[in-house]
Amino acid sequence: MIQKPVFLIGFMGSGKTTWGKKLANALQVPFVDLDHEIVEQIGMSIPEYFSKYGEEKFRELEREVLIAQQNKSGIISTGGGTPCYFQNMDWLLDNGIVLYLKHSPKSLWNRLNQSDINKRPALKGMTGDHLLQFIESKLEERAPFYDRAHILVDQLNTNLEELVSLVK
Ligand code: S3P
Repeated sequence: MIQKPVFLIGFMGSGKTTWGKKLANALQVPFVDLDHEIVEQIGMSIPEYFSKYGEEKFRELEREVLIAQQNKSGIISTGGGTPCYFQNMDWLLDNGIVLYLKHSPKSLWNRLNQSDINKRPALKGMTGDHLLQFIESKLEERAPFYDRAHILVDQLNTNLEELVSLVK
């Protein structure tokens, strides 16, 4: 059993949803994906919402959906930007165990290149060096938030057993 909810944070493509599901399964606790909750609520995709209402509205909605998780149990994966707006990082630290899935820019670049870039409005249409430069500068901007996590997991050397032991 885990005592508090576990929030997974990290850049786009860092594996928050994939590890979140695996962890929840191993620990036999519920799993919540914040982006999924948002999509359910708005009835459209996140890129669609961004282009219709803009990022600012998205961040407000993301904040609401996040604080609605208070007192829920289990594993909760956040969006890449969630900890970086309003006082979300303080809220996360106060309301659960926060685990940062850390990757280098190059590793994120490799992973994002293998995913559907267009699902992520911030990355739409980016490829090659342009994408890598974007990741480097965005990660630099977000690192001060991510680095405040209770637990930092180096994604090069991790496995499910380790993650389970870290949050138990
Ligand atoms: C975002 C990351 C996305 C999603 C939205 C914005 C970001 O989540 O919340 O597209 O600003 O980093 P993932 O990290 O699950 O891709």
